[in-house]
Amino acid sequence: MLDDLESLNGVGSATASKLRSAGYTTIEAIAVTPPREIMEKTNVGFNTILKIQADARQMITTDFKTAQEFYEKRKTMKRCTTGSKKLNEALGGGIETQALTEFIGEYGSGKTQICLMISVTAQLPAEQGGLEGNVAFIDTEGTFMPERVYQIASSRGLDPQTVAKNILVARAYNSSHQCLLIDRLFTLCAENDIKLVIIDSMISHFRGEYVGRENLAERQQKLNQYLHKLVRLSEAYNLAIVLTNQVQANPTAFFGDPNRPAGGNVMAHACTHRVFLRKGSKGTRIARVIDSPCLPEVPTRFQITDKGIEDTEED
Ligand SMILES: Nc1ncnc2c1ncn2[C@@H]1O[C@H](COP(=O)(O)OP(=O)(O)O)[C@@H](O)[C@H]1O
Ligand SMILES: [Mg+2]
Repeated sequence: MLDDLESLNGVGSATASKLRSAGYTTIEAIAVTPPREIMEKTNVGFNTILKIQADARQMITTDFKTAQEFYEKRKTMKRCTTGSKKLNEALGGGIETQALTEFIGEYGSGKTQICLMISVTAQLPAEQGGLEGNVAFIDTEGTFMPERVYQIASSRGLDPQTVAKNILVARAYNSSHQCLLIDRLFTLCAENDIKLVIIDSMISHFRGEYVGRENLAERQQKLNQYLHKLVRLSEAYNLAIVLTNQVQANPTAFFGDPNRPAGGNVMAHACTHRVFLRKGSKGTRIARVIDSPCLPEVPTRFQITDKGIEDTEED
């Protein structure tokens, strides 16, 4: 982690303290934030910011890389267990870092349960399928249940107090508050060794606030901007990002599933892995990975229990 801002070309102690008090405490954060946004928050001139950013990017080399360098970076990618072997396999071995994974489903399909489960498993050592880090959880629907975290942790033989201390939770009250919290992640993640970021759900405030066709373009633009910030965050800090999404009825569907993911193309393009969830028989859940660049679309069954997420008994 690079926090010596004064080492950047054009940053004296005055500029450094403006940057720090606006929340840009690391060279990574400066390199990956849109310049206009830094300008608005710090009052530093636009051209100065461009110069500073050019230097910051040199230091963390986010510019062109060779395919071999890309390959090396991909090798540092880690995977977090969901608790179900089958679901992990469907995800190519677990939830990846340096990527956005989206869980889509109707009310009660198990999205929040998966989020609560991985808030616990992300903290495990690597040999037990964890990311050995802490968790940031943005809750937009008021459904984060600390009791459930305690239950999952205890039933897995972990100390629930320790586990709960490593999950930083923020309730987002509206979409602009949610955006503010996402901006805050750039410093929060570095300062608290966060390896998993959860946004449950990414879309609900946006859907509720931007109603009607005339507001759709603005909504999609905002959503797009913040999804791309999350992509940069996942790459800059090698962490996993999990988003949940709702479904919306597709009135033109005569065959097949009448529900489709909310958020349109913007969500579809930004998310690396998209997983559809639905209820199955006898209380089980069925996950289907959709339009992934490298994973097959096989329906997978898992169940929700006191221990969180598990394979079904017959497996
Ligand atoms: N301890 C538990 N044991 C078994 N099932 C549970 C437990 N806790 C929650 N569930 C199941 O999880 C469902 C809620 O799933 P949830 O993740 O909140 O859905 P959503 O997709 O709306 O976020 C409940 O209806 C219940 O079936
Ligand atoms: Mg939920």
